Amino acid sequence: MPETVLSNLEAAARERIRTAAGAEELERVRVEVLGRKGSLSEISKGLGKLPPEERAGAGRQLNAVKQALEAALQARQTEFEETAGKARLAAEWIDLTLPAPGPARGHLHPISRLQAEIEDVFTSLGFTVLDGPEVETEYHNFDALNIPRDHPARDMQDTFWLTGGSVLRTHTSPVQVRGMERFGPPLRIIAPGRVFRNEELDASHEHTFYQLEGMMVDRDVSVAHLVYFMKTLLTAVFKREVTVRLRPGFFPFVEPGFELDIHCLICGGQGCRVCKQSGWVEQIGCGLVHPNVLRMSGIDPEEWNGFAFGLGLTRLVMMRYAIDDVRYLQGGDLRFLNQF
Ligand code: PHE
Repeated sequence: MPETVLSNLEAAARERIRTAAGAEELERVRVEVLGRKGSLSEISKGLGKLPPEERAGAGRQLNAVKQALEAALQARQTEFEETAGKARLAAEWIDLTLPAPGPARGHLHPISRLQAEIEDVFTSLGFTVLDGPEVETEYHNFDALNIPRDHPARDMQDTFWLTGGSVLRTHTSPVQVRGMERFGPPLRIIAPGRVFRNEELDASHEHTFYQLEGMMVDRDVSVAHLVYFMKTLLTAVFKREVTVRLRPGFFPFVEPGFELDIHCLICGGQGCRVCKQSGWVEQIGCGLVHPNVLRMSGIDPEEWNGFAFGLGLTRLVMMRYAIDDVRYLQGGDLRFLNQF
């Protein structure tokens, strides 16, 4: 009896060991077959009922099966461990020869980048980049630019007045004056920088924004020169044909004065909140320098003349990247800034 029972049991156990899906299933087989209440110990309990001459042989067979199954279990167990180990190695593999990722690096703000590009264009044309103070004297911000005392630009609405009569400069034009005072004619300067106006905030107005001023003083400077430089500038910035229009514009420090508008690139001229539904965005105030302005800075308008322009750097950035709200630019939101 025990022989067939034993060999059947061994065959069944081996099959279960072979097909076990994992260590847990293997453990169940071990308990059920080799455990204290397992099938083998059931059989061994029956040994005592055998006739004495059969008992020893059956006991040996039982032991042999027990050892064989233990070995099979152990072998299968080792197999599982090896597979798990290999999977872990594959999953956790690290190439220690790779360079470390290093800290996340910042980058230039889109306004700084555009500013640098425009500086490159103008320095290659013989212009010097000038800096001026953000806290200006009333003289440099207004008087020396032929802005009379009753001009609306001096209105408390637009200007941040500081105690002592200084102002936060409302435009970069005072740097024209500082350039003329410092270098005299002939002169080619640009002056990028931050300007401030006490304005109602909306999608196209901020109290703080960036302008870029330009001025050239020489002999026989004409509107043709001005137009040439403006076109060179816009082609460099937009790297394509942009539709512009030149309208007469009033600025006390130029005569004649113009406003150069570009076709709104955000809505393609259809009208949107940035162009206030007009399809055009005012980008550059410009003109030929007023003789009074030259004279006040010690330059003889009979001998010298020039052009000047002041472009809205912030607005130009908005056109370039189709940003429809000026408040994003200085808002400090990394979700916005990381796109550039
Ligand atoms: N300063 C003018 C402004 O802020 C722009 C300008 C500069 C116009 C130079 C003419 C010449 O609007």
